[in-house]
Amino acid sequence: MSRVYNFSAGPAVLPEEVLKEAAAEMLDYKGSGMSVMEMSHRSKVFDDIIGEAEADLRDLMKIPDNYKVLFLQGGASQQFAMIPMNLMKNKVADYIVTGQWAKKAYQEAQKYGKANKIASSEDKTFSYIPDCSDLPVSEDADYVYICENNTIYGTKFKTLPNTKGKTLVADVSSCFLSEPVDVSKYGIIYGGVQKNIGPAGMVIVIIREDLITEDVLEGTPTMLTYKTHSDAKSLYNTPNCYCIYMCGKVFKWLKKQGGLEAMKEYNEKKAAILYDFLDQSRMFRGTVEKADRSLMNVPFVTGDAELDAKFVKEAKAAGFENLKGHRSVGGMRASIYNAMPIEGVQKLVEFMKKFEEENL
Ligand SMILES: Cc1ncc(COP(=O)(O)O)c(C=O)c1O
Repeated sequence: MSRVYNFSAGPAVLPEEVLKEAAAEMLDYKGSGMSVMEMSHRSKVFDDIIGEAEADLRDLMKIPDNYKVLFLQGGASQQFAMIPMNLMKNKVADYIVTGQWAKKAYQEAQKYGKANKIASSEDKTFSYIPDCSDLPVSEDADYVYICENNTIYGTKFKTLPNTKGKTLVADVSSCFLSEPVDVSKYGIIYGGVQKNIGPAGMVIVIIREDLITEDVLEGTPTMLTYKTHSDAKSLYNTPNCYCIYMCGKVFKWLKKQGGLEAMKEYNEKKAAILYDFLDQSRMFRGTVEKADRSLMNVPFVTGDAELDAKFVKEAKAAGFENLKGHRSVGGMRASIYNAMPIEGVQKLVEFMKKFEEENL
């Protein structure tokens, strides 16, 4: 067996230890005589799995008691509609558009009410985070929306926007659990788990209790109402049981690594290896404003599309997978989520140095 260094933006690398544990438990989970994939979501065994997963996540993120944790299906994209359907009481919301995912959320919200684009960085191909200290937040906005880490462009909000008292809603899909967060600053934090936490097919929604009501937009399906899932503790219908189990294992792994403070330190160290190299390279360069650089997604280019393609091809042959940039940007992108070991980044930089020497 040989494993590659997988720099995919998602689905992405998972901790090897977690994969091995899951493999060992595949046929017989803790004496149940069956796999977690085969058991009832109403069973005591599964109840313990989901209960422990939630408790560990609450512990890791220090989630206050007045927030609910929901394990839902439909991915992060389902939230683009679910958020306005549940929160747009005044039918007004403000969006800060810093990339394709924020743009998609903004466009979806327009179906349900007045979505205002109050800031954008599209003028420079989303290569920076706009100043959000004094934005024209709408008087009657039900919420202000951000995508906190922009997976495709590699930017991250280092300071949260001044929402002037309005509820902040954040998509944290690509920075979930990469560093500590103050949950109390948000109305909703949500993210697809397939980048930093587990297998694809699930979104975790952390939502303040007062935002969970029956007063949703007319026609909102039962399955798209937060109250349905909150009342049923994420077991209204059959949830993504195996994904919840895998996420639970990753939460335990994160606790073992020292929690989110330790992950932040590790992630900063890892990202610095790559960014420091890019800043002195004569061939490669990063594509975003230094102050707004993401710790998780690092896009870079040579400036020559043919050379980029050659690099991606040779890197793949050397065991560095999924380095091709998003189709809308081109170039390269290394996603270095929590589970990417520091050796992976060190070896990638060694490979880049060698490629530079050979091709300059
Ligand atoms: C920031 C962000 N939001 C949303 C999505 C969409 O997630 P999903 O495929 O789970 O709908 C992605 C990537 O897939 C993403 O990177």
